[in-house]
Amino acid sequence: MTIINGTTTLFGIIGDPVAHTASPAMHNAAFTKLGLNYVYVPLHVPSAKLEAAVLSLRVLNFRGINVTVPHKEDVIPFLDELDPLARAIGAVNTVITIDKRLVGYNTDAPGFLYALKQELGFIVTGKKVAIIGAGGTARALAVALAHGGAAKLGIVNRTMANAQHVAACVGRRCAVQSFALNTPDMRTFLSQSDLVINTTSVGMVAGETPLDDYGWVREGQYVCDVIYTPEKTEFLSQADVRGAKILNGVGMLAAQGMLAFELFTGQPIPYSFMKDQIIRRGKL
Ligand code: ATR
Repeated sequence: MTIINGTTTLFGIIGDPVAHTASPAMHNAAFTKLGLNYVYVPLHVPSAKLEAAVLSLRVLNFRGINVTVPHKEDVIPFLDELDPLARAIGAVNTVITIDKRLVGYNTDAPGFLYALKQELGFIVTGKKVAIIGAGGTARALAVALAHGGAAKLGIVNRTMANAQHVAACVGRRCAVQSFALNTPDMRTFLSQSDLVINTTSVGMVAGETPLDDYGWVREGQYVCDVIYTPEKTEFLSQADVRGAKILNGVGMLAAQGMLAFELFTGQPIPYSFMKDQIIRRGKL
């Protein structure tokens, strides 16, 4: 455990709620491992106080913060600079101060791609990918997959207008199509996809699933869920029993932390170390 003193460097996470987050455990353990006199604290910030909280980071000499729900998009106007990927995604989960300037990054989406490669050996280049859901997470993954060289994306959603909005954010980087949830066209696209990802929150309640049928799953197909509690959602269970290669959201959480840590400290930390910290918390 770090001994906090007059020269301790400050990091934190702003969100509402923030008490459940695994990030303090991950980052503080990593600081200790590398012998850094750094500390990372949860900072509960309601939306009405977001601007004041972000502006105070410079005054209070925070070197970096993570940003979580519901501030990932709303934080952008209060930053001085945006990394190009964060700009394309339209959401920030990591902010670092460089010469008192606040610079925003997104490590969620590259973290997802890193975990996919690390855990399942999946390389995005040239692949056909279906994304279920059309919220902030879907948009981030769609943009990162397009930047990563995916050949074709399908955005599947209950509300078509939201799917079309995500498709528009991908721009011309790769072919993209929108599908209404649980339709024959959707099932055809899913069955032809190399990778299918659930980004909806349906599945956090045990037994619930966004799809009414899993006949599309092929043996050896890659199927992921961004949810990490429960560890194996009904969506992943259905894919698993049909022989798919499955991955839950723990890897994405660990990898976004690993990438944020590198931005915070300029030093690498192993993915497996961050993942162990999440698993050790015993909340999964
Ligand atoms: P996040 O920012 O985490 O991605 P979000 O913006 O709230 O979360 O997006 C949630 C997504 O889950 C949306 O695509 C939503 O569908 P709609 O666009 O139709 O609202 C989808 N979703 C939420 N509850 C759902 C349900 N019961 N069935 C199907 N889709 C659902």
